[in-house]
Order: sequence, then structure tokens, then C-alpha cells
Amino acid sequence: MARPLTATVDLDAILQNYRYAKKLQPTCKAFAVVKSNAYGHGAVEVSRYLDEEVDAFAVAAIEEAMALRDAGVTSPILLLEGVFEGSEWALCEQYGFWSALENAQQLDELVASRAKIEKVFLKLDSGMHRLGVEKEVAPSFVSALKDSDQVGEVVLMTHFSCADDVSDLTTMQQLTYFEQARQLIGDIPASVANSAAIMKWSVPEGGWIRPGIMLYGISPFAEVSGRALGLRPAMTLSSKVISTRPLKKGDRVGYGLGYVAAEDHILATVAVGYGDGYPRHAEKDTPLQIDGKPACLAGRVSMDMITVRMQDFADKPAMGQEVVLWGGEVPVEEVADYAGTIGYELVTRMTARPHYRYIRDSDSL
Ligand SMILES: Cc1ncc(COP(=O)(O)O)c(C=O)c1O
Repeated sequence: MARPLTATVDLDAILQNYRYAKKLQPTCKAFAVVKSNAYGHGAVEVSRYLDEEVDAFAVAAIEEAMALRDAGVTSPILLLEGVFEGSEWALCEQYGFWSALENAQQLDELVASRAKIEKVFLKLDSGMHRLGVEKEVAPSFVSALKDSDQVGEVVLMTHFSCADDVSDLTTMQQLTYFEQARQLIGDIPASVANSAAIMKWSVPEGGWIRPGIMLYGISPFAEVSGRALGLRPAMTLSSKVISTRPLKKGDRVGYGLGYVAAEDHILATVAVGYGDGYPRHAEKDTPLQIDGKPACLAGRVSMDMITVRMQDFADKPAMGQEVVLWGGEVPVEEVADYAGTIGYELVTRMTARPHYRYIRDSDSL
């Protein structure tokens, strides 16, 4: 016997979504962004599965990259935040990592290390003002990298602040700034697009795209689900009804007794809580499914349990029935909306506590 909470990760969905990203930008090579434990889906399992097909992986930092190498992943791996200490450059050479570079200190430390790096992605601050150099100094960074004779290729990279909002012209302004920088530098490959830009913006031909959230079948846009965008959601979080009880109209439930039964109904208790990554701030009426039928949250989320009711009061949940918290017919984006957050956060903050099950299309043959 085991607690029934399971995160089922569909590896072929991730592969298919990766192929879809490449199809949308057919002149570009594509990273599979697997930082933060592949957005909660399991970086080692996901990367091992994609390893033969992807052009390269991207992670935030060297620890994440080394964990993939230690697990046998052989594709190139880009460090999106670059190195945090000069000593990491030698490790980048040893393990064959590529790195972003966004400031003079990283450049000085690279030159001092004498490390040979196959590709460096010079980060341009095109308007987000988080990381990167300004366009006026970008050419001198590129020259220094080339003159060092340590770097095989320099790619100019930037990141968009508002690509998820197609009505916001900031992305156009960032693209213009980026192209101005490229003109100052001369011939240099580009890497600009996250999922939202891959799907909705026109990005420079060639170079590298950097799909993250779309690989997991989740939408970067508010009010559109991944499925509606042609993506295949990769994670289903499911559990079981572990207890039921009849409530009388007016009965109150859970911490703070915040839920009040509007009529007589059966209340089901389900094994999942914020200790697993289910959002504590999920509001009353957050959607889920019991035994394939619509149900919703009734009462505050506890660490290990939630209480729920069927949407149609006439339906009666029973012990052992399967509960889908998200995935399938319950879009994670919608659950996130009820918790005042985004799909990115829900999957990324999954804990190690649920059972993780990895499936492939071939499993069902
Ligand atoms: C530099 C960079 N590129 C690409 C991505 C992937 O973005 P998304 O998950 O929106 O596709 C991220 C994610 O935050 C990022 O920081």
C-alpha cells in the first residue's frame, strides 16, 4: 500500500511539443529548457528521454548541468545564467558546457581561466533590465571573446519581458534593439525566443530558440490552455478519494471552517496537499475531476489533504475513486488561475513527495 498521489509524466508529449516548437521556427535549432527540474517534471528522466533528439539542453546553473551529465546525458548543455564563480569555467570546459555571459566579471574570469568553451551566448539587455550588456558595449564583448581564442562561437542572446502579451509592443521594441546590436557587431547568430515568442512572434531566422513551458504542454499565455495551442500536456497529477462523509446544509469544513455546505451533500477527502505542491491558495471551487466527473475544492487546502465536492450535488463521490487534480480534462492553467498564479509555478513547485511515473507512447502498444 502507498499513498495514492501520483504525478504521471508523459515523455512523448514532451518530445512531441519539442518537435512542434521546431516546426514553428524551422530555420532554428532548439534548446530544450529543463531548468528547475524540468519545470517540476524530473530533469534527469526528461533529459535522458530527449537526449538523442534535442540540439541541446538549457538549465539555469552548473549544478543542474552536472546532474544531467552525471546521469549520462551527452547533448550540449547551456547555462542560462552563466557562471557564478570563476572556477566554474574550468568545469564548463571539462564537461563541455556552453554558457551565457552577461557581465565584465564573467568575461575577465573566463579569460583568466584559459578555459576553452565551445559556445558562449552573450546576453544583451534589450529592455528587461535583469541581465545583460547594453548594445553600445556588446561589440567589445564579442571582440574580447573572439580575441581570447578560447571560444568556438559567440551567439547574441536576449530575453523578452512581455512576449506573453501579444498586444504589448515591448517585444517589437526589444527586437528592434536586438537587431541594432547585431548590426553594430556584424555577423552573429541570434537566440531570442522563449515559448511565447516561438508561438506568437516573428523571431530572427536561424540561430537558437529556447522553448521551456511549451515543452510541458502548458500555455505561456493567460486565458489560453496549452491544449488550445496545439500542445500536449505532459503532467497529470492524480490521487484518490480516501474518505467520504455526508454533510448537512450549513455544516462547515476544514481549517478555519471556511467552507459552508450550501445544501446536503457528500464531502470527499483526497490525498494531496500543499506538502506535495498543490497550491494552498487554491480558492473554493478550484476545478478537479472525480471518477471523470467535474468536482471542486471545498475548504482550505491542508498539508496532506484536500476536501472536495461534486459540482453536481446529485453525484456522490466514493472511496477509492480516482481524482485528477490537473492534467487531462483539468487544465493546469485553470487550476493556477484559481490559485492566483500561473501554470509555470504550479508544476515547478511540485515536491519530491508524490510518486513520479514516466510513461511513453510505446507503453500503450
Ligand atoms: C533565458 C531564458 N530563456 C528561455 C526560457 C524559457 O521560457 P519559457 O518557459 O517561457 O518558454 C527562460 C525561462 O524562464 C529563460 O530564463
